[in-house]
This record gives sequence, C-alpha cells and structure tokens, in this order.
Amino acid sequence: MELPQQVIELDDLTLRRFDGGTDLPELLRVIEESLEHLRPWMAWVAEHSPARTTDLLIRHAEGWARGEEFTYVIVLNGAIVGVCWLLRRDDNPGNGREIGYWLHPAATGRGVATRAARALVTQAFHLNGVDYVEVVHDRANRASGAVPARLGFTEHLRRPAERLAPAETGEDQIWRLTRHQADNMTAEVC
Ligand SMILES: CC(C)(COP(=O)(O)OP(=O)(O)OC[C@H]1O[C@@H](n2cnc3c(N)ncnc32)[C@H](O)[C@@H]1OP(=O)(O)O)[C@@H](O)C(=O)NCCC(=O)NCCS
Repeated sequence: MELPQQVIELDDLTLRRFDGGTDLPELLRVIEESLEHLRPWMAWVAEHSPARTTDLLIRHAEGWARGEEFTYVIVLNGAIVGVCWLLRRDDNPGNGREIGYWLHPAATGRGVATRAARALVTQAFHLNGVDYVEVVHDRANRASGAVPARLGFTEHLRRPAERLAPAETGEDQIWRLTRHQADNMTAEVC
C-alpha cells in the first residue's frame, strides 16, 4: 500500500500525521477556541462535545492505516494551529484525491493553509497513478476557495449539495488540479 509522508517539514510549519494518543488534548483545546470561526462552514461543530469530536478524530486517524484518508495536524512554531487532510472519495471518478483544511482563527492570514495544501498536492501526486486533486467547499466560502486559486487549481464545476453548516448555500464549488497542470507548473518554475 502506498502512503504519503507522515511528517512534512516546511520551514516554520510542520504537517504531522495526527496521533490520537498524544495530539488529542492540544487539538481539542484548539478546536474549542476555534468553534465560532469553524461553525459557519463545518457541520460537525454543531454536534461538538469533547467526547463526540474525539470519536470523530479517532475514526479519521484510523483511516491512515487503511490507506484511505490521511489526517495531519498543522504545527506552527511547535503549536497545533489546525488540521488538513488528503483522502479519496468514493464518488471521485478515475484516480482522484481531495484535500481539506481548517485553521485556528489566530493562524489565518499568513499563508498557512495555502502552504499546507501545496504540500498535500505534492504528496498526492507522489502516490501512484493519482490523476487529479480537488478542493471542495461551499461556493460562499471565499477564504477556502482562495487557497486552491493561489495554487493554480481551476474551477472545475459547481454542484448542488446538502446545506449542513449554517453559512452554506447548498451549492459546492469544486476546484481541480490535474497531474498534467501540476507538471506544467513545475516546468515553468524550473
Ligand atoms: C479556509 C481557511 C483555512 C483559509 O485560511 P486563510 O488564512 O485565509 O488561508 P492561508 O492560511 O492560506 O492564508 C492566506 C492569507 O495569507 C496571506 N499570505 C501571507 N503569506 C502567504 C504565503 N506565503 N502564501 C500564501 N498566502 C500568504 C495571503 O495573502 C492571504 O491573505 P488575505 O486573506 O488577506 O488575502 C480559514 O478561513 C478557515 O479555517 N476557515 C474555516 C474552516 C473552513 O472553512 N475550512 C474549509 C472548509 S471547505
């Protein structure tokens, strides 16, 4: 089974495989401090309690061993400031992957999510046969959409979606970066 790197070092930023054993207390504190910032866009916040969110996080962590989903804590200067993930959805045709992220409000505005997402794109295309990477967010979530836009993703399609979180409009925006586009960008930079 092919797996991404468990630890990714990026200057002041580290992405580290989420460890349900050691990361939980700090991550729960970060979540508690971020609830009002996350609530508009993240449906699970409405159900949050330490026990429920712990269950959810542990289920996500278990996906790593099965090679299905890879959840990382985002660590800035030694402190957890958010979470990002790389996963495969059943409804992705071909061999696609999806990236997601959230940050503590105090960590926004500094390119942390963009740098984390860029690193996960690199990991995704190192996995054998991955053809494309997507970011999916509600169309009104402009901060989320700005991340793939900065990384050269293109707007792929919009589709109706269930309104699960309070600010959602019921329409998802899907951004896509193909391996071909990513290769061309690398070539241009070189
Ligand atoms: C989505 C979310 C993670 C985006 O956070 P963000 O801080 O806007 O994104 P980044 O961390 O990439 O930072 C980008 C900002 O840093 C600036 N920046 C500074 N250095 C930068 C760098 N090296 N690279 C990129 N941007 C940089 C950018 O100009 C941008 O500033 P702006 O917002 O004034 O235009 C955040 O809004 C969030 O947690 N939202 C709630 C949860 C959520 O909606 N998650 C997505 C669900 S689909």
